[in-house]
Amino acid sequence: MRIGIIGAGNIARLHVQGLERSGHELVVVSDTDAGRAEALARPRGARATCDVDEFLAERLDLVTVTVPNILHHQVATRVVNAGHAVLCEKPMTRSAADSLALLDLVRRVGKPFFTGYMKRSHPTVQKFVDYAKRIGTPRSGLMRAFHPFPLKEWDRIASELARDPAALRTTVYNDGAFVNSGSHMLDLLLLTAGPVRRVLASRFQRRPGCVTDTMAHALLEMASGATITVECGWSPLTGVGRREDGWDEVLELRGDAGQARLFTTWWDRPDHEAPVADLWLQSTTTRESFNGGSVDYFAKQYELIELALRGEPTPLATAEDGYRVDQLIDNVFAAACDE
Ligand SMILES: NC(=O)c1ccc[n+]([C@@H]2O[C@H](COP(=O)([O-])OP(=O)(O)OC[C@H]3O[C@@H](n4cnc5c(N)ncnc54)[C@H](O)[C@@H]3O)[C@@H](O)[C@H]2O)c1
Repeated sequence: MRIGIIGAGNIARLHVQGLERSGHELVVVSDTDAGRAEALARPRGARATCDVDEFLAERLDLVTVTVPNILHHQVATRVVNAGHAVLCEKPMTRSAADSLALLDLVRRVGKPFFTGYMKRSHPTVQKFVDYAKRIGTPRSGLMRAFHPFPLKEWDRIASELARDPAALRTTVYNDGAFVNSGSHMLDLLLLTAGPVRRVLASRFQRRPGCVTDTMAHALLEMASGATITVECGWSPLTGVGRREDGWDEVLELRGDAGQARLFTTWWDRPDHEAPVADLWLQSTTTRESFNGGSVDYFAKQYELIELALRGEPTPLATAEDGYRVDQLIDNVFAAACDE
């Protein structure tokens, strides 16, 4: 595939590594910061431009949108209107209303649109999807996404915001732990446990001087009748989690017939950390476990997109899936007892 990237920041590096590993070509990079666009494009012989119209005029099989969350709606809308297939980083947009408007546009234009919930691309996650179907009637579950974050960083952000409140719009901290870290696991929750009937309760915690959440809790009643506890946050603990490396992320589903669990790993270490899934079945009183190895799920995502563009079925998150996550995010914020 001939691919263009818009937004040449942190995550764009992993996208470029992934697309090159899966045999695709980076053709053009656009960023409002010319230096960033150049730095990403030049070593690969790709073109760099700050002019979005020039970028959109290129013949491309896919445009990857990796601008900050708050700009996803504006930038992705422009790319879809230009008639390109899109891979938009998660979350799809920053409100269910914007995601619905984008979803409607995607349907009208008729070009494929993928939301960057790349964890779905990992074979271990696909095994977990299968495990989740075998637990019988769902009763209960836990979605946890805790990531380490040094306390001094909060002080830095607070003083930066005190100096320049507008800075919030230009940093990744325009969203907190729930949106930035929780959205992947919310996507996997909806994928494996089905729709949410209602949010029973939620609470957000914030650091002094910061408007974004550092910790979020929610209780969800699923359409299946199961109750899911959600806990998500950025904390300074570096030795917790399954691998005791600070990454403390699990999705655990419990039914009448069994329990399925998925332990995930750092998103930026696809080469040397592997998620694991397991299934306990009451009928056989056995536990089955699966480790699909270290797979670069950014590369895998591009492999799957190529298949999807040829019309083959894939587990990739669509615009519908992106919208469903954003709807749930809005509902959890709306139910917060401290807001
Ligand atoms: N899939 C994952 O696990 C994962 C992990 C980290 C980040 N992300 C997502 O990736 C996205 C980008 O995050 P990041 O950490 O790379 O941010 P970043 O701030 O490092 O990079 C964003 C880039 O976009 C550029 N930009 C801003 N406005 C632009 C515009 N209008 N047109 C073109 N370029 C523009 C900025 O100059 C910057 O280079 C976010 O949506 C974030 O949530 C996903």
